Amino acid sequence: MSDIAKLQIGENSYEFPLVKGTENEVAIDIKSLRTATNGVITIDAGFKNTGSCESGITFLDGEKGILRYRGYSIDELAEKADFLEVAYALIFGELPTKEELDKFHADIKLKSVVDDDVRKILEAFPKTAHPMGILSSLTSALTAFNPSSVNVNSEEEMYNAIVKIMGKFPVLVAWTMRKKSGLPLNYGSKSLGYVENIMKMMFEEPNEEYVINPIIKDALDKLLILHADHEQNCSTSTVRIAGSSHAGLFASLSAGISALWGPLHGGANQAVLEMLEAIKEDGGDTKKYMAKAKDKNDPFRLMGFGHRVYKNFDPRATIIKKAADEVLKDLGIEDPILEIARGLEQEALNDSYFVDRKLYPNVDFYSGIIYRAMGIPVEMFTVMFALGRLPGWIAQWKEMRLNKEPIGRPRQIYTGENLRPFKSIEKR
Ligand code: SDX
Repeated sequence: MSDIAKLQIGENSYEFPLVKGTENEVAIDIKSLRTATNGVITIDAGFKNTGSCESGITFLDGEKGILRYRGYSIDELAEKADFLEVAYALIFGELPTKEELDKFHADIKLKSVVDDDVRKILEAFPKTAHPMGILSSLTSALTAFNPSSVNVNSEEEMYNAIVKIMGKFPVLVAWTMRKKSGLPLNYGSKSLGYVENIMKMMFEEPNEEYVINPIIKDALDKLLILHADHEQNCSTSTVRIAGSSHAGLFASLSAGISALWGPLHGGANQAVLEMLEAIKEDGGDTKKYMAKAKDKNDPFRLMGFGHRVYKNFDPRATIIKKAADEVLKDLGIEDPILEIARGLEQEALNDSYFVDRKLYPNVDFYSGIIYRAMGIPVEMFTVMFALGRLPGWIAQWKEMRLNKEPIGRPRQIYTGENLRPFKSIEKR
């Protein structure tokens, strides 16, 4: 393939360099387009064909169902690594040695206390508040209590901001859940591992010794790893573009949490469980809901199905589906919802509407079944997605800042009124 792209506009032809990645992806570098063509730009609603950056963090191939973090396949990471190792690899580029991992964890533990005034902000929320709204607010509020972490200009400052948020975010997640359930806010224990500590903070009852269930610990580790990054998805792009104005790390993460909240994105895991519950309440009639999903006049979509990039099975969904079976069996839980999910999947995989549009189960389709088996309330599911995605957001924000990327500022094509004179109110 030649290393240039040619463009013909009217009588004029233009050439633009091609950018090729380490996995042979090819992009047309159009940074000179508007100048060379005297104002012509491209337009691409939803950026379905547009790359925002060059990144060395995560590679995915939607046609082949491939996902790798820093070159490591998601299957191997989910099977052989723990979440903190994967977080380290995403953020710093390599799987850590034992010493590096121990130091990272020790530094995180030193910074995992949240200023007690944050509790007052939390207390001001009504119990009915959605946990994602609480989490986004508290994450942004951290900036007020950690001003030094804003606008980091050095690797050391950035490292301090990273270990702070890796330490404090799980506390905010646990406090958000406990606020909803009316349990007293707590801290875990520095003697525990990173994920075990999250479990203790989330699930500990005030009047009994909390015992770590290894089945749940392994399942949570796996779920957090599977959610840890996913290249330039909606919320990660939000974190990058917010950070490109040199807004601080915590403020940029807060923006990402808000983007993840939407039911078309991370909010889908909650919407899947609500959909499955509705089908169960409705007598388990999956065919009716399949018909609704295909009806263009019905806004209903089969939540947990389809993906902007994966036009094959989402590799994470395959792993999570297997884990759901194992966790429910190991915990001795019979959940009719799982059967309904399986039935829907089978129907969709044999339905031309879904097959023709390459709509397969995505990461959100089965994850909620495991969260529910863990005793996590459905409104907290997307918070768990954010907890997993945190290291990915941090890694992407860090890469964007270290690459000194310009402020994100897309163009537009104006389709409004042409110039017209002001009309006084009497004449309108
Ligand atoms: C995540 O980007 C990421 O990487 C995200 C994520 C991550 O890790 O960060 O993977 C996490 O967000 C997973 C996706 C979770 N969302 C859902 O499960 C919500 C349900 N899915 C859809 O809303 C949809 O599939 C999207 C939003 C995920 C993708 O939408 P696209 O790429 O914009 O595709 P589209 O809306 O243009 O759909 C193409 C066709 C349309 O039909 P036609 O107009 O061609 O006739 O497929 C149809 C759509 O109507 N379609 C669906 C459908 N998804 C797409 N029809 C019924 N049910 C669905 N779920």
